[in-house]
Amino acid sequence: MSESNPHAFFEADWLSLREPADHQARAMPLTDAAAEWLARQAASRRRIVDLGAGRGSNMRYLAPRLPGPQHWRLIDHDCALLETVQASAHSLTDAHGAPVAIETQALDLTGDGLETALAGAHLVTAAALFDLVTRAWIVRLAQACAAHGAAVLFVLSIDGHIDFAPASTDDAFITGLLGAHQHRDKSFGEALGAHAPAVLQQAFEHEGYRATLAKSAWNIDATRADLGAALIDGWRRAACEQAPEASARIDAWAAARMQSLQAGELSITVGHQDLFATPSP
Ligand SMILES: C[S@@+](CC[C@H](N)C(=O)[O-])C[C@H]1O[C@@H](n2cnc3c(N)ncnc32)[C@H](O)[C@@H]1O
Repeated sequence: MSESNPHAFFEADWLSLREPADHQARAMPLTDAAAEWLARQAASRRRIVDLGAGRGSNMRYLAPRLPGPQHWRLIDHDCALLETVQASAHSLTDAHGAPVAIETQALDLTGDGLETALAGAHLVTAAALFDLVTRAWIVRLAQACAAHGAAVLFVLSIDGHIDFAPASTDDAFITGLLGAHQHRDKSFGEALGAHAPAVLQQAFEHEGYRATLAKSAWNIDATRADLGAALIDGWRRAACEQAPEASARIDAWAAARMQSLQAGELSITVGHQDLFATPSP
């Protein structure tokens, strides 16, 4: 999970676990805006590039909601995740029920290949990626998207709001440690963590884009107990990495929160934001 993985490699199980919550949380008006943008493009094929695509969750959500014909390029540095994409995507169709064309590309996005990988894109998209990256990388991405005249739909960027209901004494202690941990280098350099939505908006507006942000929070309770338990455990591990001297206090917090979740007495809201932006005409 992004909240605790120092090297930006993610377990397939974690990505599968979060997929239904991600799909439910997304800001639908921004998907609709992306669909309208693609419908206006005079092209025989709508070319969509998904950055940090993982197992293809973002494509599985978007493809049936966007006009076709579609060509997807899914990019990730983790070949094992990309290998699962084709197997699960053979029945994927666009909004008109036609099959979508899919290619995967193993690429480290911190390297030279980014600009080339975006060539010909009408829409560049990504999900749950930008907390890992740096401000400088987003500036570079914004310039590359502008050079290609591509619209962007970047969803599920954490915004730092984590609320527990009911609250407990150590929640703020833990979320403070998490906020600091999220800035650790995840292979791009000092990571943006919860600053990502604001930095994305600034960088794309600087390139002349018209940008819209919308909230896409996860709401987790006993009906998503597996996701909640994975989150609490991931937060426990990240907090212990950040403050090893407080491990006993952190473990006690996690055990109590886990018990409340499983008893149906706890709900957790994790703030995210989605951004859709179109280039100046
Ligand atoms: C939190 S996961 C999100 C995956 C997918 N977008 C989803 O919504 O399920 C972040 C993804 O970024 C990829 N990633 C992280 N650093 C990367 C890098 N330097 N180059 C390419 N991909 C990277 C990871 O392998 C992982 O698949």
